[in-house]
Amino acid sequence: MSLRLIKALFRPAKPKITSEQKQASLIRAVERKEKKIITGMPIEDGYHTYNRPLGDIPVIVWKFYYAHKYFQNKMIDANMVSRLRKGASLLSVGTGPGHLERTLLAFSVPANNIDVADVKLHEHLENTTFTKYNFDAGNDWPTLRKKYDYIVFPESIQYAMDTKLSPIKGIQKMTKIIKSAYDNLNNNGEIRISLWVPKDTLDFWIKFWNMTKANVNSILPNLKWEIEPNLKTIIIRKPN
Ligand SMILES: C[S@@+](CC[C@H](N)C(=O)[O-])C[C@H]1O[C@@H](n2cnc3c(N)ncnc32)[C@H](O)[C@@H]1O
Repeated sequence: MSLRLIKALFRPAKPKITSEQKQASLIRAVERKEKKIITGMPIEDGYHTYNRPLGDIPVIVWKFYYAHKYFQNKMIDANMVSRLRKGASLLSVGTGPGHLERTLLAFSVPANNIDVADVKLHEHLENTTFTKYNFDAGNDWPTLRKKYDYIVFPESIQYAMDTKLSPIKGIQKMTKIIKSAYDNLNNNGEIRISLWVPKDTLDFWIKFWNMTKANVNSILPNLKWEIEPNLKTIIIRKPN
């Protein structure tokens, strides 16, 4: 037996990297890369504000988030990035200026694997080669060019739902949005929803989501739901 082989046999095994550690190092890499991508917009605690109209409302002060938020709340994880790199497809609904989507390009995800949609696409996306759609996620969706492995709603579903609606109407609207996303998913595909919920309304939103889940289950019974107790990310999986 050679000395090298003996040394190899007695070398202590490298500790396994946990998925939490993997995610933490991905977040650090995202923070480094996004600084070069998102320029000219002052960062305030991970977001910047931007005045834009919404439908007939002349100005809304939107919060647009830096990409790392979506890695921190695990709407995006290492496995997803690796699959997107290798050809999985993503539709992002309510992209705003697309900080997340543009940052994914810096992780070698081809632009052809990412399609972006918004009720009114943001001017920051004009020079990108993503396939772009303008539509209201709360109404009937147009025919899209393909079905997707992931459909994400990065801090957008609550607007598409229209918060002025009564809870019952809100649940019906959310059910319609999830059904539309489901119809555009590949088998084994995932809908991933990121939500910012103020602490004082958390109880309301937990009830709201549990009722929505029951309502969606009445028409699509075999979806698998993961609802985090803090509602930062909701994952809905379509079976094979
Ligand atoms: C809070 S911003 C988040 C934007 C971006 N995802 C980010 O992380 O910065 C919400 C976005 O949802 C979009 N939005 C609002 N209502 C929508 C609807 N009915 N259908 C599609 N997108 C909608 C807005 O135009 C806006 O870009």
